[in-house]
Amino acid sequence: MKVKIAVLASGNGSNLQAIIDATSSEVLKLAEVVLVIANKKEAFALERAKRAGIEALFLDPLSFSTRFSYFEKITDELENRKVDLVCLAGFLLKLEGPILKRFSKRLLNIHPALLPKFGGKGMYGHHVHEAVLKAGEKESGCSVHVVDQDFDHGPILLQRKVLVLPEDTPQTLADRILKEEHLLYPEAIHLYIQKYLK
Ligand code: GRF
Repeated sequence: MKVKIAVLASGNGSNLQAIIDATSSEVLKLAEVVLVIANKKEAFALERAKRAGIEALFLDPLSFSTRFSYFEKITDELENRKVDLVCLAGFLLKLEGPILKRFSKRLLNIHPALLPKFGGKGMYGHHVHEAVLKAGEKESGCSVHVVDQDFDHGPILLQRKVLVLPEDTPQTLADRILKEEHLLYPEAIHLYIQKYLK
């Protein structure tokens, strides 16, 4: 039986795409993506899921009275489909409530920096790369880690590095790192499944 993955996303979903593509290759043949949930209606991740024949669910946080109840709903959807592993891929909300407990050690995230540096509250998107350039770092990269109650905090599984070039802008650095993310995430998921979920 394949490991059932759900992906939570807020935006473009290029990492989701990399995961989907990897499930039909050697890299991630142990798994299948069974559900994609987005907190934004316009998230292109939803479209990517549909195109791949994967169930796509838009859940609007604004139609729940609390964040807690929003994540309760997400947790129910995941459990109803017997999801084994939840992968956050550009999902911008901080997880709260039962999902953290019920999917403890079965929640992964990707972050576009070399954690534990340049992670935490407010460190997302271009903010991360701006901070890296401002700090004069010679290298940056991406990290896949296990999710806990704090932003970008749980145990790091795997990282890939890139050089920071003198002429880099936040955008050029982000683009270089994103390419590495697409290699890193499927590989890290595969590793995690082999080690802990098989
Ligand atoms: C990636 O840089 C990821 O590391 C971060 O958000 C971005 C999502 O990009 N958490 P995409 O939606 O997967 O294209």
